[in-house]
Amino acid sequence: MEKIGKILFTKEDIEKRIKELGEEISLDYKDKDLILACVLKGAVYFTVDLTRNIKIPFILDFISILSYGSSKNNQGIVRITKDLDINILGKDVLIIEDIVDTGLTLSYLIRNLQTRNPRSIKVCTLLDCPGRRIIDIEVDYKGFEIPNYYVIGYGLDYKEKYRNLPFIAILEEF
Ligand code: IMP
Ligand code: MG
Repeated sequence: MEKIGKILFTKEDIEKRIKELGEEISLDYKDKDLILACVLKGAVYFTVDLTRNIKIPFILDFISILSYGSSKNNQGIVRITKDLDINILGKDVLIIEDIVDTGLTLSYLIRNLQTRNPRSIKVCTLLDCPGRRIIDIEVDYKGFEIPNYYVIGYGLDYKEKYRNLPFIAILEEF
């Protein structure tokens, strides 16, 4: 069985950081053609709260990708199960992720979106876990950096559960 372990970031920590990220993105993209590409399902909570803090016009779209292997054991085989609805040609795409871990999912996604010739692609992730990186990927905006833990809450799941926790905690197994 698993249980909810130590809380790393409270609801208040998350809210505060997202407000700062929203301000930064609003400034950086004020003369651009911003498309937010939310990666389902983990980034949904983060994306919704982030959009409330972005003060410039943007288009919100969703993409869903399936990484084979469990989320704890990513094998780098990735497939798009729901594509973006809109054309990103010439647009400024900001990918919104819950966590960048091995970097395998994101690296696949960036390569795929690049073939559609957007003007720019950047990445905004709530959590960055550089200690587990397999592919060297640069993150442009990050909420928090974490050590090598498996975390749950605020969109992040373990076997599809715990997404609704208002905080981010370490998953403990016993
Ligand atoms: P990647 O290893 O960077 O390809 O991460 C793939 C996906 O696995 C992430 O987008 C998350 O959805 C999921 N994932 C990776 N690490 C965690 C974690 O600690 N908790 C919950 N989901 C995770
Ligand atoms: Mg994900």
